[in-house]
Amino acid sequence: MTAARNVIVDPPALPLVAPSILSADFAHLAEDCAAAMTAGADLLHLDVMDGHFVPNLTIGPALCRSLRAALPDVTLDVHLMVTDPAIFVDAFADAGADHFTFHVEVVDDPIALAERIRARGMTAGLAINPPTPVEKILPFVEAFEMILVMSVNPGFSGQGFISEVLDKVRAVRARLRPEQRLEMDGGVNEATVAACRDAGCDLLVAGNGIFAADDYRAAVETLRGASTAAGSR
Ligand code: DX5
Ligand code: ZN
Repeated sequence: MTAARNVIVDPPALPLVAPSILSADFAHLAEDCAAAMTAGADLLHLDVMDGHFVPNLTIGPALCRSLRAALPDVTLDVHLMVTDPAIFVDAFADAGADHFTFHVEVVDDPIALAERIRARGMTAGLAINPPTPVEKILPFVEAFEMILVMSVNPGFSGQGFISEVLDKVRAVRARLRPEQRLEMDGGVNEATVAACRDAGCDLLVAGNGIFAADDYRAAVETLRGASTAAGSR
């Protein structure tokens, strides 16, 4: 079962804030995630890495299934940093994922894979790495509920934000319909988030920006920009 409500397509407000569980304490994962949600986060971001597409190993469907059981109402946004994402669609659907993002660098027919993802009850996202030209993703953007622009080279939490990707964000934003989300992932924190929002991102992933903070609620509010003047993103 997926969450009752997928906030990616039914957002309570924008921008959405998505803690990346990679920066949580894996020995106390459910408690850490519940605390982030109680602090005002909108959904959880799960980073799946295979040791091939990126030089790290992280989590798989079993952990997604456990989080779904522990937090039945929370939207689970799964980000596949793997060489062959198609082989994991059924496993993550069965594990209760609400959303499945894969990378444009590794799939020849992204639209066909998006249709398979939707047939399994999930929304679909397409991601692009910092070195990949924006032209590679533009032909496909209209067919996805979300586009993810990576702002670090994927593999690890806690890296520095690559500000050159903001040009890519602006180019993608110009092609999106209002109901499509634009997600920024990597190095998003209190120092970089305003530039992300200003460039048009409305779904902000943060690992260390939330889980390394002493006060999760203050961190979430800073990322959302809730304390900025009305009318600013
Ligand atoms: C990077 C992952 C990110 C990362 C975010 O490969 O996709 O989701 O964990 O962590 P921070 O916000 O610490 O860069
Ligand atoms: Zn991610």
